[in-house]
Amino acid sequence: MRKTVKDIMAMKQAGKPVVMLTAYDASMAALIHKGGADLLLVGDSLGMVVLGYDSTVPVTMDDMVHHAAAVRRGAPEALVVVDMPYGSYMVSEADSVNNGFRLMKETGCDAVKLEGGEAVCPTVKCLVDAGIPVMGHLGLTPQTAGALGGFKVQARDMESAKKLLADALALEAAGVFAIVLECVPADLAKIVSESVQCPTIGIGAGAGCDGQVLVTNDMLGLFERFVPKFVKQYTTLAPQIVEGVQAYVQDVHDGSFPAEEHQFKGDCNYRELLK
Ligand code: KIV
Repeated sequence: MRKTVKDIMAMKQAGKPVVMLTAYDASMAALIHKGGADLLLVGDSLGMVVLGYDSTVPVTMDDMVHHAAAVRRGAPEALVVVDMPYGSYMVSEADSVNNGFRLMKETGCDAVKLEGGEAVCPTVKCLVDAGIPVMGHLGLTPQTAGALGGFKVQARDMESAKKLLADALALEAAGVFAIVLECVPADLAKIVSESVQCPTIGIGAGAGCDGQVLVTNDMLGLFERFVPKFVKQYTTLAPQIVEGVQAYVQDVHDGSFPAEEHQFKGDCNYRELLK
């Protein structure tokens, strides 16, 4: 049975940590769901992780629809949340709701996520009133990282901590079912988590959150260039992939692949074709 957003909200009351991971394609979605994650997030981090952009800003609605539909096909039983990309919920409330409907209808996802605090609350309310479950995202909001001074820890001082708490309470009042807290001091994330009824899901926000999310490619060690401080690498797939490719290249070069067991046999002697 597929979990619902209500099940995710009930986890907080039951004291059960919520586990979320990103997924961008069908085969990884199937594995992540099999591994036991409660939620799959088709994050717009796909812009950086999969599409090779420097930020999430260029990611389009079409990109999100394409990848989210693949995730849904790969994990039909999973609870899937899809990021609304930059520009898809800022123009007008009607445009935002249409984009929300498009994600729900064309991908089969269960909920959408958008970044921002009090400023996006009217939009959150419209989406929720339209029957679209919404997850909020506060702290480091990558779509507007430039305006926040880059990819840095947020809300370190009292004034911005106060704003973060007010934003979380406003999002909750607007109807979100959960809030991602990204890159905020652990003590503050704990206070925010204790102040809202809905679960907080932290990334670089410490152990006081009600759940955790990581970018799957980071935690599986698929990136060799940079590992953020908040990431724990549970395995290091990048060198294993390079080793696998090197072994294949070597085998093709020296003729040991394909071997007998990788080849098909026909029913006749094809040499006769040359006579
Ligand atoms: O896009 C994403 O992957 C995210 C997570 C980092 C929470 O928003």
